[in-house]
Amino acid sequence: MKDRIEELLKEIETFAGSAEDHAEEFRLKYLSRKGQVSSLFDDFKNVPNELKRDVGQLLNKLKTRAQERWDELRSSSASNTSNAEFNFDPTLPVGGFVGSRHPLSLVRREIIEIFGRLGFTVAEGPEIEDDWHNFTALNFPEEHPARDMQDTFFIADKIALRTHTSSVQVRVLENSKPPVRMLMPGRVYRNEAISARAHCFFHQVEGLYVDKNVSFADLKQTLLYFSREMFGAETQIRLRPSYFPFTEPSAEMDISCTICGGKGCNVCKNSGWVEIMGCGMVDPAVLQNCGIDPNVYSGFAFGMGIERITMLKYGVNDLRLFSENDVRFIGQFRSAL
Ligand code: PHE
Repeated sequence: MKDRIEELLKEIETFAGSAEDHAEEFRLKYLSRKGQVSSLFDDFKNVPNELKRDVGQLLNKLKTRAQERWDELRSSSASNTSNAEFNFDPTLPVGGFVGSRHPLSLVRREIIEIFGRLGFTVAEGPEIEDDWHNFTALNFPEEHPARDMQDTFFIADKIALRTHTSSVQVRVLENSKPPVRMLMPGRVYRNEAISARAHCFFHQVEGLYVDKNVSFADLKQTLLYFSREMFGAETQIRLRPSYFPFTEPSAEMDISCTICGGKGCNVCKNSGWVEIMGCGMVDPAVLQNCGIDPNVYSGFAFGMGIERITMLKYGVNDLRLFSENDVRFIGQFRSAL
């Protein structure tokens, strides 16, 4: 009997159950009514009297130790259960990375919001465009180099990925009567080698205002308002004569450099100015192509690159960062917008 008790004492120390609930397995095996410790107590009456004292003490020791082991197993399995089932606390503050909006989305929203205050609403058009909407209706001569395979991704004969959002101007004008005051954001594609300054796709926002008596002064004031809202009240603008087939006269607009404030730095190549968009008065031929009488109506249009605005606003110096989806980059942009 003594040997059996010693044996059990060793066994319970190294007990490793196989059932999921070790504590319960232990209790059934040793401590329950039919368990091994209890049955030793039953056998105790058969122990010769002269041994009862020793065996009794040993038996009590076994019982106490078995109770302790059971307690240990219970508390460790209790903490296991809590790990597995209850360790998920949905009320804890979130650690690590919380989602943020892409910088280009933030800037697009801000552009839309600023022009929205002037009454511009948003329209969109397809990225796969036909020759008419991307080129012909916009007054591009048949042999214009912009139609060349080098700039444009053609998909089929006279079907291409749009090279600018000006195609949406045509779609809007074809389908509406002036007054038209529209903002047209979207992705555009050009067959360019990818570098820090150029990409084969990027984003533009096109603006169009057509009504009676719309003048170049309206264009200038609208763009000045936008530039100051976007880049700060100190911002200056400058319009330089330029050429686009679909505007006449045409201009390129610069803002005073956001990095150096106009003093000269490497972003503005020491000129103090950086170009942010093309613009001009809608060419009468375009209005005509879209079924609007140029003798009654006039309008202005402008187009800007969202990447460019974002780079100037946030001091980003590599265009590729916008499409690499590196959280170390995009996680830096936080906004209420
Ligand atoms: N579509 C021109 C471009 O992509 C920009 C532009 C838009 C110019 C509207 C004038 C008017 O460069």
